[in-house]
Amino acid sequence: MYQSKITGTGKYHPEKVLTNDDLSKMVDTSDEWIIQRTGIKERRQSDLTKDEFPSGMAYHSAKEAIENAGLEPNDIEMIVFSVTLPDMLFPNTASCLQDKLGITNKCACIDVNAACTGWVYGMTMANSLIQTGVYKNILVVGTEMTSTFNNWEDRSTCVLFGDGSGSVVLSRADDNDTAKIYDSVLSSDSSKLDALILPNGGSKSPVTAEILEKREQYMSMDGQVIFKNAVKTMSSHCATLLKRNNLTLDDIDWFIPHQANLRIIETTGQLLKCPPEKVIVNVEKYANTSSASIPAALHEAVIDGRIKRGQKLLFAAFGAGLTSGAMLLEF
Ligand code: COA
Repeated sequence: MYQSKITGTGKYHPEKVLTNDDLSKMVDTSDEWIIQRTGIKERRQSDLTKDEFPSGMAYHSAKEAIENAGLEPNDIEMIVFSVTLPDMLFPNTASCLQDKLGITNKCACIDVNAACTGWVYGMTMANSLIQTGVYKNILVVGTEMTSTFNNWEDRSTCVLFGDGSGSVVLSRADDNDTAKIYDSVLSSDSSKLDALILPNGGSKSPVTAEILEKREQYMSMDGQVIFKNAVKTMSSHCATLLKRNNLTLDDIDWFIPHQANLRIIETTGQLLKCPPEKVIVNVEKYANTSSASIPAALHEAVIDGRIKRGQKLLFAAFGAGLTSGAMLLEF
């Protein structure tokens, strides 16, 4: 069996900043409420005239990740693209990204939708394909344009989300390399499908004039159900990974949880007994960018020098489904 390692990272966030004060002019909310309940100060919003839809944002993060890996676009043998609301229903967003990157080798392209957990699902699938020798270099992208399904008239959800992209190149490690993916765990609890849902716009319920009239083309959420399940599932998945790899939190250099909101991040850290100084947080700048949040936070911490080769990292994510996943690796 081969081992895989992260050889390159990249990220992209749209230029346009939407602050809490901007939102308080759109809905009945305040900077104080948003910061107290979520830790979020601002988020980025896509501009379609600047190609800031999923494949357009991913072009920038993927290009950076491929360059940082020391590779050329045509070295990529597969694109795994985590996205909740794709560019279009088909062709898939991974194929659109292949085109944008100028990849002419006809590499495999697949979209993954596991909501905010999608990138951890994609990494787990990519790792298996590298471990079994099928591919040597896989681009794993998480990119989300949450502003499309955000109801900008619903203060209980619109303050939480932002747009962005994060990419990683996962490559076959050299024989003498210690970097590897140790383990991952994935799950989904379908008993709570309604807790975070966008029921309209798919095959089951196409958008009609009536749906538009009632503004039901947007997501809805039971925030407290999501909160409780997020902290419970992410902490228990991390504990499972540590236990079955005979490690403790003392062995972990950095914990990168899904950047949903600061209270979820802090509570998950407390349940895990993870010292706050080991937790990577950037939710205050970008809000919840769904499956883009972990790869983008990873890239920031690699670029600013916090994350170094040889360190052990723990990722944990949670989202609609209710999906959840965690991954343990040496960078
Ligand atoms: N500004 C001001 N007031 C708001 C508001 C906003 N943006 N959003 C909701 N409120 C109000 C509610 O209407 C309610 O008012 P009421 O008491 O008069 O009815 C009050 O604030 C409390 O609302 P509640 O929903 O009980 O707040 P909460 O403490 O559960 O916090 C969340 C709400 C959304 C921040 C919290 O539930 C949460 O973080 N959930 C997880 C969400 C998430 O991360 N989802 C994505 C996962 S991938």
